[in-house]
Amino acid sequence: MTPPGPDLHGDHWARGARADHAVNVAAGGPPDWLRRLLRQELDGAIRAYPDEAEATAAVAHRHGRSADEVVLLNGAAHGFALIAETLAPRRPVVVHPQFTEPDRALAAAGCAAAPVILGEPWALDPDAIPVDADLVVVGNPTNPTGVLHPRAAIEAIIAPGRTVVVDEAFMDFVGGEANSLAPATDHDDLVVVRSLTKILAVPGLRVGYLLAPSPLAARLRDRRQAWAVNGLALAACAAACHHPARLAPAALRARADRDALAASLAGVPSLRVHPGAAGFVLVEAAGRDGRALAETLRRGHGIAVRPAATFPGLGAGHLRLTARGGDADARLVSALHALLR
Ligand SMILES: Cc1ncc(COP(=O)(O)O)c(C=O)c1O
Repeated sequence: MTPPGPDLHGDHWARGARADHAVNVAAGGPPDWLRRLLRQELDGAIRAYPDEAEATAAVAHRHGRSADEVVLLNGAAHGFALIAETLAPRRPVVVHPQFTEPDRALAAAGCAAAPVILGEPWALDPDAIPVDADLVVVGNPTNPTGVLHPRAAIEAIIAPGRTVVVDEAFMDFVGGEANSLAPATDHDDLVVVRSLTKILAVPGLRVGYLLAPSPLAARLRDRRQAWAVNGLALAACAAACHHPARLAPAALRARADRDALAASLAGVPSLRVHPGAAGFVLVEAAGRDGRALAETLRRGHGIAVRPAATFPGLGAGHLRLTARGGDADARLVSALHALLR
């Protein structure tokens, strides 16, 4: 696969910055219970080849699925490459604006996707999906718009001969998960990709999984290399899925921080604010170059934000701002005020 462009992900902008509003994982770093667990598990996890049984059972239990419907992943991003290579779709589409790794994975597998670009406010329109699309990738909630599609809108794009892949990497941030398709067992060709990287704030650990009907899950699982997921990631996955209530504090904090940030951004001149359902806020500085703004914020204030023009369907002025709470968000808002007044 071609390497991502140097600025295709938020971590490029965050490296070396004093304040990171570019990476979209939960604020505050990994929770204490997880740090303790990883320290405890370190020795055992690195001495033995990884055993997926416990993490697989925990994921299945969390979502009311059977273990044979679970495929553990080295982060959710692994799932897109696995799906592309295994299914080799003829007419794949990706619903944009959204995360572009599925496009890269499909292109690398020799089956480049056509973009379906939704117009603002980016509601999923089932009629926009070409009837002959045999693979459709859609994010829910979507990065970077934060749009949460109703479960029924996604179910409306399910069709015979078509695999629908729902990227629910940010669903842990949404209270109640009423629109999640993770528990749905009544669709033959539905794949739900989940990441624990985001809510646990462990992008370096790589923790994800997918849920699919067992024949499809078996094809995907068998395509992975041996020991695809490391032992510490498995320990984190098992613990989080055995005790999903442990994820609630980070989700609550993210929602409160996001709403507070969106409210303060509303006072910044010429900025349009799209708060969304995840822990970040998409904004548009009309008539401005978001990339130049991001560079100035970084150089002048040590603040990293993610310019969003690389997401198909968004414009030069879009920026994705991850809420970090308190003083960090206040400094971000005041820096934007100074730049945009
Ligand atoms: C929408 C979306 N899906 C999946 C991923 C990848 O998640 P992971 O870090 O678990 O591979 C990201 C990472 O930014 C993302 O934004």
